[in-house]
Amino acid sequence: MNKTAEKILKILEEKKSPVSGEEISNILGITRSAVWKQINELKNMGYEINSSRTEGYELIEKTTKLLPYEINRYLKTDFIGRDIRYFESTPSTTWVAKDLCSNEDPKNLNGTVLVAEEQTGGVGRLGRAWFSPKGGIWTTIIIKPNVPIDRLFFVTMAGSIAVARAIRRMFDIGALIKWPNDIYIGDSKVSGILLELSAEADQIHYCLLGIGIDANVKPEDLQGGMKTPVTSISVENGEDINRAEFFATVLREFERRYEMIEEGEFESIVHEWKSLSLTLEKRVRITTPRKSFEGEAIDLDEYGALIVKKDNGMIERVISGDCTPVQ
Ligand code: BTN
Repeated sequence: MNKTAEKILKILEEKKSPVSGEEISNILGITRSAVWKQINELKNMGYEINSSRTEGYELIEKTTKLLPYEINRYLKTDFIGRDIRYFESTPSTTWVAKDLCSNEDPKNLNGTVLVAEEQTGGVGRLGRAWFSPKGGIWTTIIIKPNVPIDRLFFVTMAGSIAVARAIRRMFDIGALIKWPNDIYIGDSKVSGILLELSAEADQIHYCLLGIGIDANVKPEDLQGGMKTPVTSISVENGEDINRAEFFATVLREFERRYEMIEEGEFESIVHEWKSLSLTLEKRVRITTPRKSFEGEAIDLDEYGALIVKKDNGMIERVISGDCTPVQ
């Protein structure tokens, strides 16, 4: 949103009654036709504005789009999301982020958030397609973590904890984390998280934390072909949510955990993750590209690996793969 549109929006919000084009043009020192042009821009962005020849302009309803201006109303972070780049539609925020990081110094992009209304080529874990229709929250957070590479799983954990906590805090819905990084409500998936890394030897260039949240989407609009049952926050909540407020809460919750990780407080993160785990103390089936087996998920180690006790008593340390609860 350009600065003039932002100023006009502020005037309309403050007045709470119709404001004439002339008054706005006097306040901002621009022509009435420039005001009219910006009002049209705002309407295109989804703001419902009444224009009456006699009375002027009146803001009826804010936009429901995830515009940076809207997220900023609620954002209480120090650096995550202080630069938000918005896309009406993009193949994948991950790809946009990769592009950005190859054109700019990732150090200057630390905390930058990309968010899209819809993705036409969203990518999930293990190269799977990730359906990203309008109404969801499809985001990539660019970070340059100051942590050892073998602790990077903690950044994913921080993302999972943030989404689960935000759902719990705002809607009082008991969201839980399924290892490695899915958020579930009951037995349905509501969010998935994916960390991508660019590194050389032990030096991290940047990390891309991709988060997909089925916020205001109908499960039937999601993956027809997906094996896992899916749900959305709006379905569980009984009505559409304020995505901007929710997203700002996720970013805040994430930033808090991320700072803990940079401070080396790994144990606290493991402890919180365990308290939100859907997986631990359950019988699970683990599927990796090489093998598949069942056992009891007994623990999460200090590197984020799942510890599974197989039926023959052997202990397996699982670092990646699919984990499905078994009845
Ligand atoms: C999973 O498979 O569970 C992880 C899904 C991650 C999806 C997010 S949506 C934003 C970002 N852009 C993508 O293309 N993927 C990630």
